[in-house]
Amino acid sequence: MKREIKVLVLALAVTFTACSKSNSGTDSGGITTPTTPTNPVTPTATLQSSMPFPFGAAVNISLLKNNTAYRALVIKEYNSLTAESVMKTAALHPAQNTYDFTDADYLCDFAKTNGKRVHGHTLIWYKSLPAWITNFQGDAAAWENLLKTHIQTIVAHFKGKVVSWDVVNEAFEDDGTLRNSIWLQKLGPDYIARCYTYAHEADPDALLFYNDYGHEYGPTKRAAILSMVNGLVSRGIPINGIGMQMHTRYNLGDSNWATAINACAATGLKVHISELDIAMNPNNDQTLTYTAALSEAQTQKYKLIVQDYNAIPKAQQFGITTWNVSDADSWIPGNYNRPDWPLPFDFNYARKPCYQGILDGVK
Ligand code: XIL
Repeated sequence: MKREIKVLVLALAVTFTACSKSNSGTDSGGITTPTTPTNPVTPTATLQSSMPFPFGAAVNISLLKNNTAYRALVIKEYNSLTAESVMKTAALHPAQNTYDFTDADYLCDFAKTNGKRVHGHTLIWYKSLPAWITNFQGDAAAWENLLKTHIQTIVAHFKGKVVSWDVVNEAFEDDGTLRNSIWLQKLGPDYIARCYTYAHEADPDALLFYNDYGHEYGPTKRAAILSMVNGLVSRGIPINGIGMQMHTRYNLGDSNWATAINACAATGLKVHISELDIAMNPNNDQTLTYTAALSEAQTQKYKLIVQDYNAIPKAQQFGITTWNVSDADSWIPGNYNRPDWPLPFDFNYARKPCYQGILDGVK
């Protein structure tokens, strides 16, 4: 008996030594550095390699330029990129006759070098308006010219580099009425249709989206959006897809996401989950911590949303984009002034358990 145990211990020791040799790099001071990932099932799985549709992130250009961990993660994980800020109006068109494409061009070059799709965000929005637009004085024709020139100059500049655009962003209020933006005030309700026509003239190959938030919170705003979109389609206005931002929260009823995704898919247009993040502190609790239970809940919700999206017809799956990369970069804590953990990577750019929830959503 004793002898058998000795043999077993010896055999285990030999096996362990062999394994750690084949799985390690240079020994330094007795510390072995692993050179291969430890996940035995899918050691090289990433979001871009695992998802059956494009998987993207909104990126912050200064982090992309200056933070090596961030840049490496973006290169590794995603195959579609949206600019978090640098393709908005204030950035691209700071004065009437001045366009600044520097940062957006940097993103396009980065995407080209690394084989990634670029989705353009956004041409016409009530936010990110430079003073020259809010102060603009002119009659209806002058406003129309402003709208058309703005859209067409930008779309033409990125032709062949940006495959798709959020042409109009957030044109509805939560009660389903058209938002009383400067665009509505100066151009009337049909400005939305004209934005699509102008964008299409500048780049007939670009896929054109209407982007908004809140589809999953209830039928009122969703119905207004879908009625507007269906109206454009029936008039032959060139619109190709719906962007569902999905700045969502973990404690919605589980059926809400499927209901919203399926309603958008019922238009027959492409559907882009365009700004996904899952807030874990929707009640603004300043003392909240991210517990194992919250992490597990978030994992299940990421999985469910991915499952719901994966169930719509393939040809309509434009992809899923998260709104930035890690909890350190998310806009949620700053925007709502609270601690929160909405994204699949943690403050150290390590994968959170909900990363696996995303992968599991397509299994
Ligand atoms: C947000 C950015 O993440 C912030 O950094 C910025 O300060 C404000 O805009 N809906 C949109 C996005 O369409 O453009 C917004 O992005 C988030 C809500």
